[in-house]
Amino acid sequence: MINGDDVYALLKTAETFLKSVGLSDPKSDAEVLLSFVLQTKRSKLSLIRNQKLTDKQISQYKEYILRRSQREPAAYITGFAGFMDFEFKVNKNVLIPRPETELLVEAVLKFATQENKKSVLDLCTGSGCIAIGLAKLGSFKNIAASDISNDALKIAKENAQINDAFDIDFIASNMFDSIGNKKFDIIISNPPYVSDEEYNYLEPELKYEPKLALTAQDEGLFFYKEIAGEALNYLNFGGLVVFELSANKSSEIKQIFLDNNYKDIEILNDYSGLPRILKAKHYT
Ligand SMILES: C[S@@+](CC[C@H](N)C(=O)[O-])C[C@H]1O[C@@H](n2cnc3c(N)ncnc32)[C@H](O)[C@@H]1O
Repeated sequence: MINGDDVYALLKTAETFLKSVGLSDPKSDAEVLLSFVLQTKRSKLSLIRNQKLTDKQISQYKEYILRRSQREPAAYITGFAGFMDFEFKVNKNVLIPRPETELLVEAVLKFATQENKKSVLDLCTGSGCIAIGLAKLGSFKNIAASDISNDALKIAKENAQINDAFDIDFIASNMFDSIGNKKFDIIISNPPYVSDEEYNYLEPELKYEPKLALTAQDEGLFFYKEIAGEALNYLNFGGLVVFELSANKSSEIKQIFLDNNYKDIEILNDYSGLPRILKAKHYT
């Protein structure tokens, strides 16, 4: 299956093998995992194409390629994922940060700059990628990040340290239950939104991710209803709630926010043109 002892041969045979099991981007997976084994940048692989690997490196690479062929995400194999140009530690207790979620961070950075907003709560923080991205790229005075999972919060705190983002207040909380009487200018969230029915049809890779991070009762709408019902109590006047959308339920979700007296509701599309972000304001 995987042959050779130099970079070029190993990459080629790994790519062919991963393609044969149906992976959509086998070249990328083969390169990411080899650069992890060699502890080198992926972009450097072509410069060392004739380099021989040790027996230990070859057997490690074969093990990683086998795990990837069984559809374990590369980020769980390497233990790291990139988000907004920063590195985040990930394990099976946290969702792997997604490129679409970067749009959420960008939307908040823009709003915060335009309207001089200084405090933000990241609900359902997981790996901490959103809160840490905001801490690194924004000029907030007060950032809180919450999650129901203590295992996830442990990783989020490690990520804050890895990325030198020291001023985030991490809170263990079932949605708003333990947020206390604080109020924020912005509430941001990428909540779980996969219905139990949809969960059965997800790509095999997603079955490695925590079900707690993916599924929501009430046909995937539970957390949107929670946020719509509660966020007004935790937002300063003129504040913004902004969250990632389940693209196929965007109209229903918008209606939930209209029914709860939010104003200036706006939906933004992701890179593939799908509705992905909902922004709504508090004016009541
Ligand atoms: C879709 S993941 C988002 C993680 C991260 N913010 C991101 O964008 O990559 C949802 C997160 O919600 C958390 N979660 C699930 N149920 C929750 C609840 N009732 N209260 C707070 N957090 C919850 C999960 O532990 C998970 O970390």
